[in-house]
Amino acid sequence: MAPSAITFLTVLAVLCSFFYVLFYISSRKHGKGKGEALPGPRPLPIIGNLHMLGILPHQSLYHLAKKYGPMMSIRLGSVPTVVVSSPPVAEMFLKTHDAIFASRPKVQVLQSISNSQRGIAFTEHGPYWRSVRKICNMQLFTPSKIESFAPTRKEVLMHFTESLKEAATAKEVVNISKKLAEINGEMTLMMVLGPVKKYKEFNLIDLVEELTKIAGVFNLADFVPFLGAFDLQGIKASTRTLGEKLDYALEAVIDDHLQKKQDDFVGVLLTELDQTMNPNGDIMDRNSIKAIILDMIVAGSDTSAATLEWALSELIRHPRVMLKLQQELESIFGNKRIVEENDLP
Ligand code: HEM
Repeated sequence: MAPSAITFLTVLAVLCSFFYVLFYISSRKHGKGKGEALPGPRPLPIIGNLHMLGILPHQSLYHLAKKYGPMMSIRLGSVPTVVVSSPPVAEMFLKTHDAIFASRPKVQVLQSISNSQRGIAFTEHGPYWRSVRKICNMQLFTPSKIESFAPTRKEVLMHFTESLKEAATAKEVVNISKKLAEINGEMTLMMVLGPVKKYKEFNLIDLVEELTKIAGVFNLADFVPFLGAFDLQGIKASTRTLGEKLDYALEAVIDDHLQKKQDDFVGVLLTELDQTMNPNGDIMDRNSIKAIILDMIVAGSDTSAATLEWALSELIRHPRVMLKLQQELESIFGNKRIVEENDLP
């Protein structure tokens, strides 16, 4: 036998033994280990149950849950994961034991974005998060603050409807998904940063869109951590570059707001700059403010746009409901005026 064939067979034999041992350990742990009594499909070594998710994971999980019940255990790579799929069990996790499950996983993308742990959305549950959240609730998410941006939202919406009318007259095709993302991005930036035109050079909407995309990519490193160091998908490198660009832009936004007092989210947060937030001695510094601003922009843009897109597509899929809605709107508002926020119940 040629030496290369012998080497190949030896490597194969070592790998097979390695996988067998891993498989043995993982299946023993999965089924019988203490504290892991949840039912669930048997995981493979290395990839766990990833191969069972398919291209529509929500449907695959639905079918698995039908077999294993409303609380099952699966492994995403080496990450043990509990899948809950009934209202009472969801209530147990999200309400009764909320504090235990409130933290977010430490995914690679967030670790590569500096300060992500100083914000609100991805910060560990604890005194720092509680203080930041309290400040946001008391200063930013008050009914009067939200109401104060109503004219801004109306202005963006008017431009949007005008552009639709023009496109209709010219019989142009409009990409509604793209438009919804644009107007939501614009509204959010105006509420958070104020005069967005000033910051146009930083292309913040594009940067945030890129961040949302990267964060949504299936990143092998999050599930098979030993592959993280190799950055096989290039995610770590591109996130670092993106993080630097975002940081540069947010530094400029803060400097600008420090020079001229403004009433937007950044302006309000800056009134807390360098203040101690809690008895633990946590301080609201520039890093905290940059992280909170970024969280607000990311959390406010894609979520609302995706919700609107989903609602519109459901209406298109159900003409009976669409007709009912059109009739209701016509009977209340006619064709005379645009529906206002305070028309809503
Ligand atoms: C239809 C639109 C939206 C949807 C469906 C949505 C959904 C969610 C969900 C499911 C969470 C996680 C809650 C949790 O884990 O307890 C969340 C958190 C959050 N959202 Fe939204 N959101 C929307 C709009 C917004 C907007 C407009 C903003 C701000 C401008 C925002 C800011 C945040 C923040 C800061 C968090 C983190 C809260 C925390 O960790 O304490 N969201 N959102």
